[in-house]
Amino acid sequence: MSNLSTQSYKGARDYFPEDKRLQNYIFKVWHATAQSFGYEEYGAPLLEPLDIYTAKSGQELAGEQTYLFTDRGGRQVAIRPEMTPSISRMVASRRQELAMPARLYSIANFMRYERPQRGREREFWQLNADLFGAEGPWADAEIIEFGYRSIMNFGAREDMFTVRVNNRQLINQLMSGFLGLDVIGAQMMTRLLDRKNKISPEAFREQAIEIFGSEEAKAGLPKLAQLISMRSVDDLPEELADSPSVQQLRQVMTLLRQKGIGNAMFDVTLMRGLDYYTGTVFEFFDNSPENNRALFGGGRYDGLIGLFGVEPVATVGVGLGATTMQQFLEVHELLPKLTTHTDVYIIAVDAASLGGADALARTLRSEGVRAELDFSGRKLDKQLKTALKKNIPFVAFVGEEEIASGVYTIKNLIESTEQKVSLERMISVVKDRRYDGDDDAAFEI
Ligand code: HAM
Repeated sequence: MSNLSTQSYKGARDYFPEDKRLQNYIFKVWHATAQSFGYEEYGAPLLEPLDIYTAKSGQELAGEQTYLFTDRGGRQVAIRPEMTPSISRMVASRRQELAMPARLYSIANFMRYERPQRGREREFWQLNADLFGAEGPWADAEIIEFGYRSIMNFGAREDMFTVRVNNRQLINQLMSGFLGLDVIGAQMMTRLLDRKNKISPEAFREQAIEIFGSEEAKAGLPKLAQLISMRSVDDLPEELADSPSVQQLRQVMTLLRQKGIGNAMFDVTLMRGLDYYTGTVFEFFDNSPENNRALFGGGRYDGLIGLFGVEPVATVGVGLGATTMQQFLEVHELLPKLTTHTDVYIIAVDAASLGGADALARTLRSEGVRAELDFSGRKLDKQLKTALKKNIPFVAFVGEEEIASGVYTIKNLIESTEQKVSLERMISVVKDRRYDGDDDAAFEI
């Protein structure tokens, strides 16, 4: 029999301690950000009945990207590809009991059958934050502000990214009223605009002509060009200026400015692929030429909860991917140097001292020091090498003399210094000098 492969499943990552440390750092900033806005954490099952996705998530996600199986009871089950339908189901199930507006967040893993590439995996992690039971521009602006703080709290600057904002109702109005497309044509044009930056200008033009029909394209193409060139809400056709969607858009943009967000802009070509959005939609983009891509996005989806047979709830939310966030932080050099959390490696100098070394480790742990005990009995230099390889900043040597006197030799492996210290001193020295890069001062809210 040939050996088993050590490779992880295609598109799914193994998280070794150095990877997990980085991911945990991202999660830590996200938890703190979510809680700073008053969002409360929830959890949901990994598996859901397929139909909660087919209802409104769109053909691409529900039809082509879900991991699907039939369970032993004959049910069609999907591994969650996103959180929005799950949290909508949960809120619908407690429609009466929940205190509205409800601010809920979670950090969880998802699976989508996608072609793995930079920033796209088959298993990935997302922060989802959703605001239930609040309509109007304040709610939309809060969710966008939430996304903004979720980046800024890593130490980012506004010029590193752009927030693009649009409105689904406005898109529909532009497609029918301005471009004169029917429902099917509008859907196709929306998808084409969504792919605009991924295809050549020629292919874009050709496909646009196909959607308009060759006769109608004569009038349609210049209008499409005009639409694409709109840079601000003021560029919109006059007849739309007073429509509720444009008013809403203006109010959201004004609120964002009031909140001190200076890098948000209207983008008429921003579509967002999922079918359930009904109002404001937005996406955050990395400005770095090395990582010029969408980082995350969200929007208003007022129709989803009503599908579960309860009175509809106005809802707006955002989903942030941990991998795209990691790439953003790497490209902009915003990641601290993260290393092990272990403070001290305790080495017993001989077999007789092992009990004393173990007692020291227990005392240190009870005082909040993270202490790892080497009980292997190997040569001292071997034990020391292990501490070095693990990047543990301190080693403490424990022999009969140390046990009797309560004075220990500790070596700082990072600064190559050595000192003799009492137990109390050891506790304060190792706690004062933590090098794991993950201290609470790493971000300020
Ligand atoms: P989405 O645009 O499909 O929206 O995903 C949101 C973010 O999750 C993406 O921008 C990206 O950061 C990350 N993401 C998605 N797919 C992958 C993948 N295959 N690999 C790595 N990262 C990925 C939603 O999922 C909506 N449910 C968000 C939402 C919440 N809207 C309202 N509330």
